Amino acid sequence: MSGPRAGARTPAHQVTTRNLGAAYPLVADSGLGHRGVLIGRDLLGGSFVYDPFELYAQGHLSNPNMVVFGQIGRGKSAFVKTYLWRQAVFGRQAWVVDPKGEYSSLAEAWGTRPVALRPGGPVRLNPLDPAPSVVKTTTTPPDGSDCSDHRGREQADRRHSELLSSLATSCLGRDLMPRERVAVDLALVTVANHCDVVTLPAVVETLLDPSASVAKSIRTTKAALLEDGRDVALELRRLVHGDLRGMFDGPTTPGLDLSAPLVVLDLSALYNSPALGVLMACATAWLQATLANRVGVAGRSGAQVLVVVDEAWAVLANLGVARWLQASWKLSRAFGVANIAVLHRLSDLNAVGAAGSEQVGLAEGLLSDSETRVVYAQPPGELHKAAQLLSLSSTEAELLPQLRRGTALWKVGQSGFLVQHLLSTMERDLVDTDRAMELRP
Ligand SMILES: Nc1ncnc2c1ncn2[C@@H]1O[C@H](COP(=O)(O)OP(=O)(O)OP(=O)(O)O)[C@@H](O)[C@H]1O
Ligand SMILES: [Mg+2]
Repeated sequence: MSGPRAGARTPAHQVTTRNLGAAYPLVADSGLGHRGVLIGRDLLGGSFVYDPFELYAQGHLSNPNMVVFGQIGRGKSAFVKTYLWRQAVFGRQAWVVDPKGEYSSLAEAWGTRPVALRPGGPVRLNPLDPAPSVVKTTTTPPDGSDCSDHRGREQADRRHSELLSSLATSCLGRDLMPRERVAVDLALVTVANHCDVVTLPAVVETLLDPSASVAKSIRTTKAALLEDGRDVALELRRLVHGDLRGMFDGPTTPGLDLSAPLVVLDLSALYNSPALGVLMACATAWLQATLANRVGVAGRSGAQVLVVVDEAWAVLANLGVARWLQASWKLSRAFGVANIAVLHRLSDLNAVGAAGSEQVGLAEGLLSDSETRVVYAQPPGELHKAAQLLSLSSTEAELLPQLRRGTALWKVGQSGFLVQHLLSTMERDLVDTDRAMELRP
């Protein structure tokens, strides 16, 4: 950019176009190129196209994850649904955790049916599904060792131990004590030694009836080990015999089409229940295990996947779920997964716990692990928080309360865009959540 003509009083100032974008956000951003799916209209000119994998490959983003914020009814879910629909053209598969049960039209358009989870329902998902390297093989390596099998088993044990700790944390509403953690780990190892597929009922049974030899291995008695694991067992029992039975208490129901372009986990049966957190922890755990299996089977060449947690604000306060979400976000690059979390307000992130608590740290960590932030209208009271957490310029922050339905501020890495999301006629039907509000003659 050249400065003023000779003779003018203000001295000339030269900046690169990259720095100019930072100095004049929205007005001078250089665009994201044309590789990706069309999202809509860049309100400062042209069309807006986006693809996290492409931008990652170009070095524009250092992670493919996205967080979508917006007040009720501003078009968050409509954007996510059409985004998944458009990404399918590029062979991308989508997995959705759907607490409100609103992705069924989209699933229908794809010719699939949501996996509806409800207590005592016909579908079970085993959050302790084995990873492929753990599945027993008939061939032995040339040197006769079974090193990879051993490593795979160790990884699975660690993953299962973390999952059960998270689940127990969710159910108990507190962290596990060291002796409880040990009881869980020993129960897991015992079950894994005896069964091909580890299931929750088998773990609960083992916690309630530990063997004397296992107790001896940690220099304690059977009665003391039972006492150490009792609270955890009784809480996990809820998933096996209590109000949450019939969803996660056995091997995964055979015949689920997990290769479909869209896999929806419909959790709406428990949307208004305090058990939603536990349900989401189990569902996301199962999802993560299944994705890990896919990566194990297909290697890095497998299809890239978009994983959506809609209404994520409802479960962030649950420590177990928040830990699981953070783990998935951190694993995104290894799994070839772009995660998307949908929240309402920026302050949702701080409202999940006391200042300085682990919950708040995890929620804010989710934001730092998401380099794409899509912000629909925010109330004026949120502007300060938004500016602070998203590093917005004052121009960008002041725009937020004025954004109309369907228009969002996109922060992609260091760049900012004002984007009006466009819907085709066919897509309008897929995303309509206003039917109940329509005036009837
Ligand atoms: N870009 C758009 N253009 C036109 N209409 C839109 C657009 N986006 C959303 N809508 C309409 O707005 C309504 C609300 O959208 P949507 O369900 O996506 O909101 P939301 O932000 O997810 O709300 P909630 O917080 O309640 O989940 C829908 O009926 C949809 O048809
Ligand atoms: Mg929504």
